[in-house]
Amino acid sequence: MLSIKNLSVSINDEKILENFNLEIKKGETHIIMGPNGSGKSTLCYAIMGHPKYKITSGKIEFNGQNILEMPTDERARAGLFLAFQYPKEVPGITFGNFLRQSSNVKLKESGEKVLSPMEYFKIAKELIEKVDLDKSMIGRGVNEGFSGGEKKRAEIVQMAALKPKLSLIDEIDSGLDIDSLKKVAQSIEEIKSETGMSTILITHYQRLLNYMNFDFIHIMKNGKIVKTGGKELVEDLEKNGYQNF
Ligand SMILES: Nc1ncnc2c1ncn2[C@@H]1O[C@H](COP(=O)(O)OP(=O)(O)OP(=O)(O)O)[C@@H](O)[C@H]1O
Ligand SMILES: [Mg+2]
Repeated sequence: MLSIKNLSVSINDEKILENFNLEIKKGETHIIMGPNGSGKSTLCYAIMGHPKYKITSGKIEFNGQNILEMPTDERARAGLFLAFQYPKEVPGITFGNFLRQSSNVKLKESGEKVLSPMEYFKIAKELIEKVDLDKSMIGRGVNEGFSGGEKKRAEIVQMAALKPKLSLIDEIDSGLDIDSLKKVAQSIEEIKSETGMSTILITHYQRLLNYMNFDFIHIMKNGKIVKTGGKELVEDLEKNGYQNF
């Protein structure tokens, strides 16, 4: 469903990704690990179409469609979703309204009836409480004053609301306490089994992977995948770091 071929990406004329290749099939989960600055977040932004990240060569196809010409909102409507490493605060729009408006775009496109604030409240409350956030968050600005861990959990709430076809989850575990980590991993697994969603999950640590099913682990270094394998790779990494790659 996602096919990335020979992708090179630059920021301010500096090459970050070089001839990057990745194929993801429906329902697969791919873990990406790699040292700081290796280009993991850059890959996510390039897939989502961030204007600062210039594609200098290669292609990205999503369900057979060339997405490189599509603006970010169209990519999102096609079913791509990014859970940010550093979620931004969006004051002035409440979290509940944000969730409802984005869900309604999807409902509208599939010809279904859009939901009123009253109708949506119950859905939002359930989604929010599933990751142990308080329902009062519905009435607060998006991420406004949320703690680090609350922001990360709010990203998962958005994912649960939107039911994307492919999620890019960038270091969801950083800043989460042990219990939240488990909850978030369970929520991701639940969404995967409910929707058949494919996932690219970026992490630095084994602990999140202990609670998750996955198909491949890729080690990324200097803008490229340098090794692909299974669980044994993480164990090696936890022991020896990245020096062997
Ligand atoms: N807007 C920017 N301007 C200049 N350089 C940038 C910009 N964004 C990213 N870079 C550089 O691109 C490289 C890759 O960054 P990226 O954020 O993709 O790394 P990462 O693998 O996600 O790292 P981390 O594990 O620390 O999150 C880094 O050297 C970073 O400084
Ligand atoms: Mg990053």
